[in-house]
Amino acid sequence: MDQRIKLVQGDIAESEVDAIVNAANPRLSPGGGVSGAIHRAAGADLARACEGFGGCRTGEACITDGYLLRAGHVIHTVGPVWQGGGKGEAGQLASSYRASLRVAVEHDIRTIAFPLISAGIYGYPIRDAIRIALTEIDRFLAGDRTLEHVAIVAYDEPTLELVKEIAAAL
Ligand code: APR
Repeated sequence: MDQRIKLVQGDIAESEVDAIVNAANPRLSPGGGVSGAIHRAAGADLARACEGFGGCRTGEACITDGYLLRAGHVIHTVGPVWQGGGKGEAGQLASSYRASLRVAVEHDIRTIAFPLISAGIYGYPIRDAIRIALTEIDRFLAGDRTLEHVAIVAYDEPTLELVKEIAAAL
């Protein structure tokens, strides 16, 4: 695995990086989970900025400022809702990571933090969600020399342990 991938535990809304990634919904409205935490910490200007996009499709990403966050930017990506695995969810989840990383590089972002997209309210099985996150970030970094580090932020300690276990086996 690329040495630039960091596995950490915490609240992503508090990350001090150039950009944090939001596990958004297609309307880009605040919602709960990661998205609720990011919107609460960023202030109401973030929701106003999101309204300007007219939504975001599953597997795609867009970028806003970070407003009151420590992070300068928020990259909003919409992961798939888990529907049993036969509806192209794996490809869509991989696409969310790739699209977010592409947008980051286009905006000269050097440090970025990801939550485990789709692994909460959207119901993606956690082990598979972790595997896809690690694989896609690692693949992207193999072709990129601009990003300095990419963090995967697990919300709690057991999830971090699981991420580390899966990373070690890749
Ligand atoms: N920091 C880091 N990780 C977090 C945080 C946080 N503050 N809050 C939740 N998590 C973890 C969850 O435990 C889960 O592992 O992030 C992962 C993603 O969870 P969700 O935020 O529920 O994201 P997702 O499954 O993609 O669901 C998206 O949730 O908030 C709504 O509007 C959003 O409808 C959309 C849906």
